[in-house]
Amino acid sequence: MHKVALIGGDGIGPEIISSGRVVLDAAAEKFQFDLEWTEFDIGADRYLSTGELLTEDDLQELGKFPAIYFGAIGDERVKPGILEKGILLNLRFSFDQYINLRPVKMLEGTVTPLANKTPADIDFVVVRENTEDFYVGIGSRLKGHEKKNLEVIRELYSVKFGLDVETDSDELAYQIGVITREGAGRVISYAFDLAQKREKKLTSVDKANVLSEIYGLWRDVFLETAKKYPDVSHEFSFVDAITMWFVKNPEWFDVVVTPNMFGDIITDLGAMIQGGLGLAPGGNINPDGTSMFEPIHGSAPKYKGQNVANPLATIWAGSLLLDHLGEKDAAAQVLRGIEASIREGIITRDMGGSASTSGVGDWIAGWILKN
Ligand code: IPM
Ligand code: MG
Repeated sequence: MHKVALIGGDGIGPEIISSGRVVLDAAAEKFQFDLEWTEFDIGADRYLSTGELLTEDDLQELGKFPAIYFGAIGDERVKPGILEKGILLNLRFSFDQYINLRPVKMLEGTVTPLANKTPADIDFVVVRENTEDFYVGIGSRLKGHEKKNLEVIRELYSVKFGLDVETDSDELAYQIGVITREGAGRVISYAFDLAQKREKKLTSVDKANVLSEIYGLWRDVFLETAKKYPDVSHEFSFVDAITMWFVKNPEWFDVVVTPNMFGDIITDLGAMIQGGLGLAPGGNINPDGTSMFEPIHGSAPKYKGQNVANPLATIWAGSLLLDHLGEKDAAAQVLRGIEASIREGIITRDMGGSASTSGVGDWIAGWILKN
């Protein structure tokens, strides 16, 4: 029996999650295990009525689950950043979900914008660091009265830009990225382990030619870790270059490990080359704690309640969830079910079909039970 927490969230979130849930329930029935779901009311509606984003209580309760199935967060009534930081990033950070696992795999029957590339060419995994880098939230807009540890920055900027931050209020903003040896080490080790189980090739992404302090440390840790994996070939790629290679030679890649912010950027690109955001799943993983599985896309508020959103990224995230819980056969069957629905044209209108959100989920659930 597996206990799973459900957070539908905002916009299309609740619809895609309920479609995913139907599919996972079918997989559980087929492979004879139980899934016990507990729903959590977290998101914009609650925030607007109570002012609560994520409470101590929420964290305490959610922390009892090995996995959270998460829809999407984001609502037009709330200023951008509040829900994202207060809920999504807060969950990733609070549960120390230091691995953001994002497969970039083109399924049979999908369309990539890359000319002449097929499913055989597009099949790699991005392992994004999920707790550090420019996501640590250290930064400020400098006003005259805020001097915090900024003597150095202040001097530099008054010389370079001629600003007097004592008097020019709100004239300067800064944000700091942080990489720690431990933080880099654990995600890089995870990526090497994963590469060992796949094609034994790992690419590290950075920008050590410019941001040489933080990504210099990242590189050092990568090279030290590489020594423990003599059977895995490894290489570096600067982030600007990798955007080019993802487009030109996606077949080159097997596992790609990246600091947080570059990972955010290149996985949207990855989603596009595999066939669109509607298909891209992600797992936020703490191997020893509470992990969380979600589609990479957002809450698409304008489609809320219309039963038209594509649930495939969420269903695929559900497959990652089952895999994480050790239900490997069920996870594989869910992915086959997704492929079958695409093959049979049971797809939503963003993919050129006319099926509804719930229709796709119900169809895949039925396929899973019959096959
Ligand atoms: C993602 C998203 C989030 C991120 C946002 C919504 C905070 O873009 O999961 O990729 O930046 O990580
Ligand atoms: Mg993103």
